Amino acid sequence: MKVAVIGTGYVGLTTAVSLAMNGHQVIGIDLVEAKIVKLRQGISPIYEPGLEEALKQVLTNGALAFSTKLQDAGDADVFFVCVGTPEAEDGTADLRYVYSAVAAIKEIHQASPKSRVIVIKSTVPVGTGDKVAELLSGCQELSVASNPEFLREGNALFDALTPSRIVIGASEPKTREVMEELYKGVSAPRVVTTRANAELIKYASNAFLATRISFMNELSRLSAALGTDMVTIAHGMGLDSRIGPEFLRAGVGYGGSCFPKDTIALLQLAAQNGISLSILEQVRKVNATQPVWFLEQLQKFVPDCRGKRIAVLGLAFKPDTDDIREAPSLSILKALEEKGAAVFAYDPIAADTVRQKFPNVSYTNTADEAMQGAHAALLITEWKECVQLDWAKIYQSMAQPVLLDGRNAWPAELVKQAGFQYCGVGRS
Ligand code: UDX
Repeated sequence: MKVAVIGTGYVGLTTAVSLAMNGHQVIGIDLVEAKIVKLRQGISPIYEPGLEEALKQVLTNGALAFSTKLQDAGDADVFFVCVGTPEAEDGTADLRYVYSAVAAIKEIHQASPKSRVIVIKSTVPVGTGDKVAELLSGCQELSVASNPEFLREGNALFDALTPSRIVIGASEPKTREVMEELYKGVSAPRVVTTRANAELIKYASNAFLATRISFMNELSRLSAALGTDMVTIAHGMGLDSRIGPEFLRAGVGYGGSCFPKDTIALLQLAAQNGISLSILEQVRKVNATQPVWFLEQLQKFVPDCRGKRIAVLGLAFKPDTDDIREAPSLSILKALEEKGAAVFAYDPIAADTVRQKFPNVSYTNTADEAMQGAHAALLITEWKECVQLDWAKIYQSMAQPVLLDGRNAWPAELVKQAGFQYCGVGRS
């Protein structure tokens, strides 16, 4: 099929590459000329394992092209809308890019009508797909499907090629057929439903995953007070098939482009409908206070941080990404600076972006270097470069051998045997 993908950000680029790999003829569209120039050279604007290699491959075999002009995609059968839906000031999703993409597609369609489907992949409030369909009601043969994505950063291409499920929100049988044809080669359970159901599945999934994390994070505070071990507790819980092992890892809180934004958007959507999602409100509160609680643990070992060297390991919101949006590291750096600490931070990829926000932090080239002479080291993102360390060497190099493990990813028993004072999240 001939496919246009509008927006070459995280979702759009991954979608374009995966569709091209699956045998479709794809054109990626973006207004930002500099981005298109790079993409045409096979350079990915985001760090995502495997994406750049795959991009080069589909560019070389001609399955994927890029343009700044939507007119170049005039003969496409399917238009994916993958533009950003940033958080507006009131927490609702700002849909201006979605609507302008739809208006541009409408123009193209009116100039040369044929059977076409607009697929909304951007995360949009429930009802948006129906509103778009209403806007296009005069356009014969142009239909709308909602097709949310569930990509995880760091695993985006893998998730696009082997999704857990494909959710198709479309009412007309013909539109559903086009969507089935589009994903013909992909083996995954299908949920074929209304547009509104598809839209809510996306928000509800992210809100539920965020809820699991905040539940475990809040419980970790009790675990710390009781002297129990959160890792063992999560393991014991996860073996119950009704619970499952995923997303039970206590830590310094969730970040990223989805959970923070989608949970607030869902709360706003509920409020607009006169519904209070009180559990979700607490989920957000727990997430906001988890870094604060974590830093209180540091105080037990370093009561006054003023002038003390503190190592912060990992800055991205999770490993294998350069994304720092809503990363817990940001509130932790801010609090440490306010306490007057001399902060030495390390991240294999994201340091340069953080540097722009925190110019007074010293950024090192390795985790070891950040920990040298430190009075405490804080693990914020569990990059392998921050986890697989020579503990005997580090023990010698620190001013005070204190390890605050914000991801429960350091080998607790081993480091304690090596002489460190160790404190994890709900484990000691
Ligand atoms: C998430 C969803 O997983 C994905 O389906 C959706 O499309 C977009 O949002 P992503 O934000 O890339 O993906 O990352 P994810 O792996 O879900 O992690 C989100 C945050 O939760 C990270 O900050 C991570 O560190 C944290 N997390 C995750 C925990 O604190 N504990 C866990 O057990 C799992």
